[in-house]
Amino acid sequence: MTRKILVTSALPYANGSIHLGHLVEYIQTDIWVRFQKMRGHQVYYVCADDTHGTPIMLRAEKEGITPEDLIARVHGEHSVDFRDFLVEFDNYYSTNSDENRELASAIYCTLRDNAKIATRTIEQYYDPVKNMFLPDRFIKGECPRCHAKDQYGDSCEVCGATYSPTELINPFSAVSGAAPERRETEHYFFKLSDCADFLQAWTRSGHLQEEAANKMNEWFGSGLSDWDISRDAPYFGFEIPDAPGKYFYVWLDAPIGYMASFKNYCDKSGAGDSGLGAKPNFEEYWGKESTAELYHFIGKDILYFHALFWPAVLESSGFRTPTSIYAHGFLTVNGEKMSKSRGTFITARSYLEQVGNPEYLRYYYAAKLNGSMEDIDLNLEDFVARVNSDLVGKYVNIASRCAGFIAKRFDGKIGMISEHNAVIMEMRASSEEIASHLEQRDYSRALRNVMALADKANVFVAGAAPWEMAKQAGQEDALHRVCSEALEMFRLLSIYLKPVLPGLAVAVEDFLNIAPLSWPDMSQSLPLGHVIKTYQHLMTRLEPTLIAAMVDANRESLQPAVHSEQRHAEHQQNEAKTEIAAAEKDWEAFISIDDFAKVDLRIARIANAEHVEGAEKLLKLTLDIGEEQTRQVFAGIKSAYDPATLIGRLTVMVANLTPRKMKFGLSEGMVLAASDDRGGPFILFPDSGAAPGMRVK
Ligand code: 2FM
Ligand code: ZN
Repeated sequence: MTRKILVTSALPYANGSIHLGHLVEYIQTDIWVRFQKMRGHQVYYVCADDTHGTPIMLRAEKEGITPEDLIARVHGEHSVDFRDFLVEFDNYYSTNSDENRELASAIYCTLRDNAKIATRTIEQYYDPVKNMFLPDRFIKGECPRCHAKDQYGDSCEVCGATYSPTELINPFSAVSGAAPERRETEHYFFKLSDCADFLQAWTRSGHLQEEAANKMNEWFGSGLSDWDISRDAPYFGFEIPDAPGKYFYVWLDAPIGYMASFKNYCDKSGAGDSGLGAKPNFEEYWGKESTAELYHFIGKDILYFHALFWPAVLESSGFRTPTSIYAHGFLTVNGEKMSKSRGTFITARSYLEQVGNPEYLRYYYAAKLNGSMEDIDLNLEDFVARVNSDLVGKYVNIASRCAGFIAKRFDGKIGMISEHNAVIMEMRASSEEIASHLEQRDYSRALRNVMALADKANVFVAGAAPWEMAKQAGQEDALHRVCSEALEMFRLLSIYLKPVLPGLAVAVEDFLNIAPLSWPDMSQSLPLGHVIKTYQHLMTRLEPTLIAAMVDANRESLQPAVHSEQRHAEHQQNEAKTEIAAAEKDWEAFISIDDFAKVDLRIARIANAEHVEGAEKLLKLTLDIGEEQTRQVFAGIKSAYDPATLIGRLTVMVANLTPRKMKFGLSEGMVLAASDDRGGPFILFPDSGAAPGMRVK
């Protein structure tokens, strides 16, 4: 039965470049879509740039261009990045479109008419110089906990505290520098709390991964608050139809952008020509009675929006709700968060410029993805080893070892292929199992199966040793058969790998001189006498030097000025971050023992402690952690300790924090101290017997 399937990936913001973290999602989705298309289903994959909001407006202003110019430029950059990573959307649109404005307005009006909208006066920070209300991330000030200066309104990057901007000491606007005022303003809310029954039922009926459904239960436990969907002018976005000067918050119209992109696709002439007949009908996919499947691939950080707000908005405005939300984890590089100082914050473009072949990365991500919400790690050493061993050593090798004989000895003609060859039989018999792993997004398992089959093909070729046969008289027929069967194995493996390696598949189809491969081609061998083309290199080894060059090219030195800019970029200007901070905190509330083990806690001897000229809160400590290693640490403990009394004492430090360049010098770690409103800081001192360098576990 042909399924009708509509698939989306999250819409990237229109003011930042696509980086390797984003690509986890687009590659994951693209593989799934290509697989479904190969299975003969009617699939549409749509996406768009997420173009609205304060950060985009301010960024354009900073560049001296209009937001429209900015988003047009970024749309071009994103489109080319996706194309070059072989991420093939059926439509890549923009949320700043007529379709989106019409849909967002219509949805809002229906919600309003269904009594799902409320207005309330709230108090918010206002920049009196810039004449605008400030999102939390545009307010800075002193951290209420550790007193670090110049921290953002939602969290402190020095001590990691999260708080609300009203708690900041001496707040100022990050836009103008002015002291913000508290002002009242009327906001529009979507009554999420009205949808509690619907959402409880919806989130528990198989639309979410188990981990996500559990998370929802916790969120229900803490109660659903109504969702603030309006922002005051000036704002780059859509004005609310019956509320002049009020705009839809970017997160209201962003998911509607999924619909708008599809609508635009449906209405475009020539759409629907993916080989499967008439262009799709919008109602058939989004109407209340739709029997089509609808899947949203997203990162786990935006689950709240997709598993609560979005289904509630759709349900309350007369549309169908998603079939499933597929959330994935975050990307780490070499086990750590992507970081500019380590050179691991890598843009899509930089990868293409330094490494080149996007299919190395597609393969590696696929080999790591298993359909869960666990984070995935790009270990750069393992990346090189895996690609070279699996793709070059196992897969391509089969063709490169056998193709020459077919060309030179048999005029490029395929010989007899036995249907009883055990490896070929097993490859065919694995088809549904591999398909089911791909369907479940367990690409990791699918590829393990495929590589186990490639191993068997290599054993077959090595055992038959065609290069020996070629030297002996009377072995012509056997040589022809072995090489033909090996190429058939190669063809079968190419079908399985095609969703992951679509570019390579095109080269294989050209070499084998066959029509584009799809899943049912599994059952039919290359015909006797079929002429193939001369073998050309299909894939070269990935050289570790390219990876080193890429990391070098992306490494930024530790400069405080750069640091704050970079932090800004890394945070992707995400207004929503504050709103979902609570949710994110939840994710972080529990860590695994493995995560804890990453923190290198050591006993340190305070070899020296001194005042820092010009610093109000800091003492400079020199810490001896044994084996002649010392660390310099700036600690905010001046208010509680006379430095002279600390010298010689033992304490506990975090020894593997990334060094931070501070105003007064480099800080290479952190000492542990307790504090809250009852007092502090109180340094932790170990029991007697502890010695410098001992690990704390
Ligand atoms: O988190 C983000 O990057 C958002 N731009 C995702 C939007 S997805 C959808 F809802 F539009
Ligand atoms: Zn702090």
